[in-house]
Amino acid sequence: MKQITIAIDGYSSTGKSTLAKRLASALNYVYVDTGAMYRAVTLFALNNNYLGAKEDIPSFVKQLPNIKLTFVPNETSGLSEMYLNGQNVEKEIRTMKVSEQVSKIATIAEVRSKLVEMQQQMGEEKGIVMDGRDIGTVVFPNAELKIFMTASPETRAARRYKELLERGEEVTFEEVLNNVQKRDRIDSTREISPLKKAKDAIEFDNSDMGVEEQFERIYNFTQRII
Ligand code: C5P
Repeated sequence: MKQITIAIDGYSSTGKSTLAKRLASALNYVYVDTGAMYRAVTLFALNNNYLGAKEDIPSFVKQLPNIKLTFVPNETSGLSEMYLNGQNVEKEIRTMKVSEQVSKIATIAEVRSKLVEMQQQMGEEKGIVMDGRDIGTVVFPNAELKIFMTASPETRAARRYKELLERGEEVTFEEVLNNVQKRDRIDSTREISPLKKAKDAIEFDNSDMGVEEQFERIYNFTQRII
């Protein structure tokens, strides 16, 4: 069977990673969550005080060669988890503290070129499902299948709010809605690699669709190509 590259882009909390994971497991492909990589770099900046009251982006950029990112499969679930300089940060990178700063870090040219290079290396062998904001436009412009996911801001915030509550974070729906809208604004208007639909991507609004229905529809697309 032919191995292909599947690029899934879209707005925050559109369920990209749930769909990508499901597809990767059905096709026996590698799944890469590029948002986790931007989040881990942001966590490094927060932990080392380059953000916040004494914000110092130029010094942070000099530290980029010291940031080592790896995906390691969880021993029980087999799902890959994000490691930052040898430490499992899978939980920490999903907190609101990181969500509030990640889009700022993702505007930095040096951060993007480091991560895009890593992502392109991971995809050299094909047989990959990668999700993010610039996968179909910048990372893999020749991907055989590109999906651009959308859903209403309220639907997305409600999904994210539920996830955060389940993880025990104390947040309000308003805070989550504001964060989702703010990230979408920064992500779509930044100068480098803004979030936008690639010309040859299939637009997919999943506001009123369950995970299984989404999976079946996209899986059918893959079967026409493979
Ligand atoms: O996918 P997730 O919501 O975890 O991504 C977090 C943030 O990382 C996005 O809001 C965006 O600012 C940034 N990002 C990006 N390019 C990607 C993936 C994520 O700029 N390919």
